[in-house]
Amino acid sequence: MAAKFFSDKDRSNIRWFWTHYMKDKLPWLIFVMVLIIIQGFVYQQFLAFTEKGLRVIFEDGAFWDLLKICGFVILAFSMRAAISYITPVLSVWLASDAVFKLRSHLISKVIHLRQSFFDTTNPGELILRLVNQVDGVSAFVGQTTLNALRDVVTIIIISGYLIYKSAILFVAAVVILPIIFFILKSVSEKIKKIQTASEKVVGAYMTSINEMSGGIRTIKMSNQEDTEISRMVEASAGIKDLSIKLQKAQALVLPGIDLSSAFVFVLVIGGGGYMVLSDDFQMDGASIITFILGMVIIFDPARGLSQFFAKLQASLILLDSIRVLMDTKGEKSNEDGKMAFAEDTVDISMNKISFSYLDGTDVFEDMSLQFKSGAKTAIVGSTGSGKTTILSLITRLYEISDGQIMFNGKDTREFTLGSIRNCFSVVAQDIVIFNKSIRDNIHYANPSASVEDVDQAARLARVDGLMHERGDIPVGPEGSQLSGGQKQRIAIARAFLSPAPVLILDEATSALDALTEKQVNDSFAELQKGKTTIVVTHKFASVIDADKIYVIESGKLVEEGTHLKFMARDSIYKSLFNAQLRDAK
Ligand SMILES: Nc1ncnc2c1ncn2[C@@H]1O[C@H](COP(=O)(O)OP(=O)(O)OP(=O)(O)O)[C@@H](O)[C@H]1O
Ligand SMILES: [Mg+2]
Repeated sequence: MAAKFFSDKDRSNIRWFWTHYMKDKLPWLIFVMVLIIIQGFVYQQFLAFTEKGLRVIFEDGAFWDLLKICGFVILAFSMRAAISYITPVLSVWLASDAVFKLRSHLISKVIHLRQSFFDTTNPGELILRLVNQVDGVSAFVGQTTLNALRDVVTIIIISGYLIYKSAILFVAAVVILPIIFFILKSVSEKIKKIQTASEKVVGAYMTSINEMSGGIRTIKMSNQEDTEISRMVEASAGIKDLSIKLQKAQALVLPGIDLSSAFVFVLVIGGGGYMVLSDDFQMDGASIITFILGMVIIFDPARGLSQFFAKLQASLILLDSIRVLMDTKGEKSNEDGKMAFAEDTVDISMNKISFSYLDGTDVFEDMSLQFKSGAKTAIVGSTGSGKTTILSLITRLYEISDGQIMFNGKDTREFTLGSIRNCFSVVAQDIVIFNKSIRDNIHYANPSASVEDVDQAARLARVDGLMHERGDIPVGPEGSQLSGGQKQRIAIARAFLSPAPVLILDEATSALDALTEKQVNDSFAELQKGKTTIVVTHKFASVIDADKIYVIESGKLVEEGTHLKFMARDSIYKSLFNAQLRDAK
């Protein structure tokens, strides 16, 4: 019957947690267990002494004996008190250590998950797992489990003693046990369901906080504060409802236990009383009082244990959620035996590649493109045509479903991901700025670069003045204290700092004024020498000098050539170019 408290999944999760995070502490756990057993025996000794004491009172009346018994009882309880201090301290240490390890593993796990995981996972859910759920598991394996162990030990020892005293009376007392079991089982299913729902709701709430703080500008400018408030309040109302439900379900346990216990006492007093009065049993007043006292001692641990089962169900849900994340395959999970790609020049070719994002509709089918070393290759095309996706595939943020991506004629899948990514310096369309100084933000692209290198990169990106002006002051979360063009220039400086052989510029100068753009482009021309340069842009003026231009429409390559060739005939490129020229006039 007990098996039904744990599904196979639960059991596997518990085993997993045990082998990875607790097993190495086995000696300490045994030590704690010994202490707990000693504690249990204190109660048993207390009962034995009490019985003796009662007999002294009822029968011989020797005062000195009574005093001795009292002394022993005090001694026993002092020992229990000392252990009560040591065990929680020890267990908190053990649990914190296990959870620290778990959290470290989770952090390195999450960082290495695929880009597609982050495309589909709310940041709130991640925060929930790394913060709350790990804390929940920590609290559970620490204090909660310790208490439960103590309860179990107390119950076993005292029950053993009571059985030894009178097996019949004990059996009479525990006929109620199946009912308690039934209550626990029915409640535990409910608790699991509520806990699962509640994890979702809390995750949604955290995500809404994250989106609110990230999008506060847009919210304010669109006067959408009230919408946001009601969205967040709604999410927190969900939390409220579920915690009430959870409490309700858990609260069912105690009254059930209390009622059952009342039965037990009635049975013991009635049955025990009968046994004392009847001559057929060797029971006296002292032993029946001791028996009842024993039942009282078991009473609290039994209550505690029943609540433990309720909490256990909730914690199993947390554990499962953590385990699922741990079992998700990371992008570097099978790199054994792969070589590092370490060549100074890179000719890239995409051979008949196909790719689709998670929704399954193909973005590309049988697409082939070449990017030669020492040349500037441009990709143009309307918004949403797939330009950034091409760059994401080359850098292997996503895996192609068919075809090959070759570096110098070798399939990139033969090499470690880290070494492939090392080949690129990227000025991406969505710029990521960290809340550090501008200098640190630039340095991020190449931590081994010298101070002079950073200065030089900042100069080439025309961000040196700002960098010196702001000094060590952090630039705000996600660079919120900077202008769009300033952020872009930091990203450009990163590209100048990185020694990588492939330079990717995705709308790299879109936020710059014409003069700064001209200056930065001149610096880029210098940087591009000897590198494989890939430029994505909507501004045709900056692709005129490209060695090759690809025109992409809705995931299809529609034209390839150079500016001069395109302009010499009727081409899509020519019409787009002329249209832009007209608009500029
Ligand atoms: N992470 C993603 N998950 C699912 N679909 C995506 C994802 N990123 C882009 N898409 C879709 O893939 C298609 C190509 O997008 P992509 O970002 O490559 O376009 P783009 O040519 O760079 O456009 P733009 O000029 O606006 O930057 C679009 O239809 C887009 O909606
Ligand atoms: Mg794009």
